[in-house]
Amino acid sequence: MRIDIITVLPELLEGPFSHSILQRAADKGLAEIHVHHLREYGIGKHQQVDDYQYGGGAGMVMQCEPLVACIEKLQSQRTYDGVLFMTPDGKQYKQGDANALSLLGNLIIICGHYKGIDQRVRDHWVTHEYSIGDFVLSGGELAAAVIADSIIRLLPGVLNNETSALTDSFQDNLLAPPVYSRPEDFRGHKVPEILLSGNLKAIELWREEQAYQRTKSRRPDLLEDF
Ligand code: ADE
Repeated sequence: MRIDIITVLPELLEGPFSHSILQRAADKGLAEIHVHHLREYGIGKHQQVDDYQYGGGAGMVMQCEPLVACIEKLQSQRTYDGVLFMTPDGKQYKQGDANALSLLGNLIIICGHYKGIDQRVRDHWVTHEYSIGDFVLSGGELAAAVIADSIIRLLPGVLNNETSALTDSFQDNLLAPPVYSRPEDFRGHKVPEILLSGNLKAIELWREEQAYQRTKSRRPDLLEDF
């Protein structure tokens, strides 16, 4: 899979993609991430990428020309299965979206800034619009990094133990159960007895029950789809 990210702040994306799982996925040749500086497609000698909005109102709007020039250049080089736009008014991004996107081929992600991007790009070039939560970030870069991470870790071979993605929170509409490691007793706080029992069947049942109880108390909305 290849993910191309279009941004006015490429520096913001250097950190997330040069470490940990994402770097490992790139090193193994399982995922490629390319960051494109929108300014290189900007208009005129100032390489302008944004302008005032028609009709008046505060805030600049990212213009069509630079965005479409960048998208179409990429699309002339290979086939893309989606052009994603990160925006607080997009569909709420869920684990199910990560699962579905991880089955696709190449993706373009547009990071918005200022007041947003010209609606015509959204109407005619963007295929998916996602929000990562009901709050406003100063740009779409962090949201793009979140989405790219959630997709890439699902690609076969990226995680050491492939089953670990299957037991993530949300994969079955339940939050994950609590986990413990050594020591057995930390300042008098003990690991639940059942986890030390060696009884795999009983442990499995305990984890299922814990996942259910945790979901019921913290995220009862998830149980509506359970
Ligand atoms: N850009 C700004 N805020 C955002 C959000 N909550 N989700 C996705 N993209 C954004």
